[in-house]
Amino acid sequence: MQEQIDKLRHDLLEQVSQSGDLKGLDGVRVAALGKKGAVTALMKQLGQVDADQRRELGAELNRLKDSIAEAIETRRDDLERSELDRRLAEERIDVTLPVRPELHGTVHPVSQVTNEIMAIFCELGFEVAEGPDIEDDWYNFGALNIPPEHPARQDHDTFYLSAQDRADRPVLRTHTSPVQIRNMLASKPPIRIIAPGRTYRSDSDMTHTPMFHQVEGLVVDEKTHMGHLKGCLRDFVEAFFQVDDVPMRYRPSYFPFTSPSMEVDIGCSFEGGQLKIGGGHGWLEILGSGMVHPRVLKNGGIDPDKYQGFAFGMGIDRVAMLKYGIPDLRAFFDADLRWLRHYGFAALDMPTLYGGLAR
Ligand code: PHE
Repeated sequence: MQEQIDKLRHDLLEQVSQSGDLKGLDGVRVAALGKKGAVTALMKQLGQVDADQRRELGAELNRLKDSIAEAIETRRDDLERSELDRRLAEERIDVTLPVRPELHGTVHPVSQVTNEIMAIFCELGFEVAEGPDIEDDWYNFGALNIPPEHPARQDHDTFYLSAQDRADRPVLRTHTSPVQIRNMLASKPPIRIIAPGRTYRSDSDMTHTPMFHQVEGLVVDEKTHMGHLKGCLRDFVEAFFQVDDVPMRYRPSYFPFTSPSMEVDIGCSFEGGQLKIGGGHGWLEILGSGMVHPRVLKNGGIDPDKYQGFAFGMGIDRVAMLKYGIPDLRAFFDADLRWLRHYGFAALDMPTLYGGLAR
């Protein structure tokens, strides 16, 4: 029997090392160690062997079994590894290949400018917040100190989604300011957020579309004051338009949700029909702003005796037109491929303050 064992070991190890795939290897395993396998058959013969030899042969057979099982394991690892190597080589993609320009789209100027605005404010420590396009009357107006009979409602050309006059009637938000309320109610000062998104007013001409984009800014803390508002907006304007020392003008204005309220203009020139931001004698209005009205803080669940804040709202489409010299707002939403190719931005360039904001 010893001879049989030695021969079997030699044959089986040979078969193991020669099996070229996992299926073949499993065949070898079954033929050796399975119920009807060669090693199992030898085990069964042990019963007929003399008692004094049986113990030694039994131990020998167990060693055979172990060594075959171990050889199969090792072989399986090798086969699995080379199978993985083969797949990795076969499924390799060269990610450094250039994108084929005819196959990819461009980033819309609104998305581009939104990304630029987020990059700048996030660098200043702001977080990005969002709110729904369909708002309750209360968030869009009431909580912002614009009660139902308030004349300021007339400025908004609101799309009402229900004829009924009540605080929870749905409207398409006319500005991003309702996000101020939602954010104040959901968090605690210090608050430092911007909220970009779609807004709606029933209005349409060269510079107005029924759907447009705004970005809201809100900062609330114990000692927030107008100097913070001015410094923050200056940092933004200079980073966004990439000019130093832009003249900025704060004109007294009125919004029910801020007091005092200011509209902000930036200096510009129109030489030879070309608009240039910074310097010159012209002024361009770019946003509305002010110190958050105490009643608005209260509606946001914030104690106006302890906290104060500033807020601003800016038209994204408008600053996109100014920065990139795009004349007609309506074309933004025409989905005209020629326009998109002309004014669109490279799809894989994310704007950052370090890498650059513009193309
Ligand atoms: N919500 C105002 C608008 O749409 C802009 C604004 C926001 C003004 C925040 C002041 C403070 O015109």
